[in-house]
Amino acid sequence: MDQMVNPDHPLRKAFEGKRVLVTGDTGFKGSWLCLWLAKMGAQVMGYALPVERADDHFALLGLDGIIEHVDGNILDAAALNAAFERFQPEVLFHLAAQPLVRFSYAEPKLTFDTNIAGSVNVLEAVRLSHSLKAVVYVTSDKCYRNNEWIWGYRENDELGGHDPYSASKAAAELVFSSYQDSYFHARANFGAATVRAGNVIGGGDWALDRIVPDAVRALRAGLPIEVRNPHSTRPWQHVLEPLSGYLTTAARLLDEPKRFAGAWNFGPDTTSVRTVGELATMIVGEWGSGAVRIAEQEHAVHEARLLHLNCDKAHQLMGWRPKWTADRAVAETIAWYHGVHHGHDPLEISTKQILAYMES
Ligand SMILES: NC(=O)c1ccc[n+]([C@@H]2O[C@H](COP(=O)([O-])OP(=O)(O)OC[C@H]3O[C@@H](n4cnc5c(N)ncnc54)[C@H](O)[C@@H]3O)[C@@H](O)[C@H]2O)c1
Repeated sequence: MDQMVNPDHPLRKAFEGKRVLVTGDTGFKGSWLCLWLAKMGAQVMGYALPVERADDHFALLGLDGIIEHVDGNILDAAALNAAFERFQPEVLFHLAAQPLVRFSYAEPKLTFDTNIAGSVNVLEAVRLSHSLKAVVYVTSDKCYRNNEWIWGYRENDELGGHDPYSASKAAAELVFSSYQDSYFHARANFGAATVRAGNVIGGGDWALDRIVPDAVRALRAGLPIEVRNPHSTRPWQHVLEPLSGYLTTAARLLDEPKRFAGAWNFGPDTTSVRTVGELATMIVGEWGSGAVRIAEQEHAVHEARLLHLNCDKAHQLMGWRPKWTADRAVAETIAWYHGVHHGHDPLEISTKQILAYMES
């Protein structure tokens, strides 16, 4: 499977031959990002906790045979610094995090430790590095103080967080901003940006309490899809959309580090906003069988109901735009799970989807 991205594509030109470090490579977004980078000829090192399940996207791709992976904790500053020292990265994507809202209610300390103290360790490694030219620091659309209003959040809106996950990501933003102002602004030939995206869907995500993995588990078991908050709206986007935003940010930072430093939102068009109930119905349609059931909420925890991003800044200054509609995002996602469920090669499916996305 040696299909590569078109050599004339601007992103391939930006990353070919570059040494790129990705924290969180064993996770859902990180594994897609590393495959994409490898397909553009980048030299990739991943740093993350070990892969958890045999059916994780990282494991299914055989990614440890495609990139160099280091098992490590971002709370272990010495190990993290040693990885930076040895690899001498030119570009960093920081994705490692505890990313789940509901889990953060059960494990607030783990969430704050990982997402704040862990990010401080990463920023310290960046501060000490002499090789880095571009840093993309991943937080979340949930870093904004949620006003439950209909307008999209802009990069200069107030930060905040009700649940521990959202608060940890808002705090991670503040920490980044301090490093930016205190150290990074003044460093020559170096740019750092923080990137905020919303809920993503795509093949190979098996996280608990996320609608698509929950739905696929139910469909594979022949059970109805249980939906907790059918009327909550979310900006559904395919995982390749924010990743294209992250890659574009790094490419722009490599070209003009000061102009593209700062915060960037990457979300779908407002036409891609759907309720959770609508999404579940679309999933059943794409799978070809199954049913949706509204679940009782005995121990409901607070989750934001109205949340979407205003992405005018990325549209106008980077020329970045989402490419796939919500319908296409669901179709590609369910095609991935359906294909793998029926014995097709996950590496081939993921590679084809990356190449198709780039040609869209
Ligand atoms: N998936 C989404 O819908 C979504 C939405 C908004 C933001 N994000 C953000 O994107 C990033 C990636 O999310 P994901 O969905 O791929 O999550 P994931 O749970 O699939 O992956 C998380 C990754 O972080 C690593 N990690 C966790 N704790 C670590 C630690 N202490 N040390 C080293 N590595 C550690 C894991 O090993 C894994 O590689 C996170 O920062 C998350 O907050 C995700």
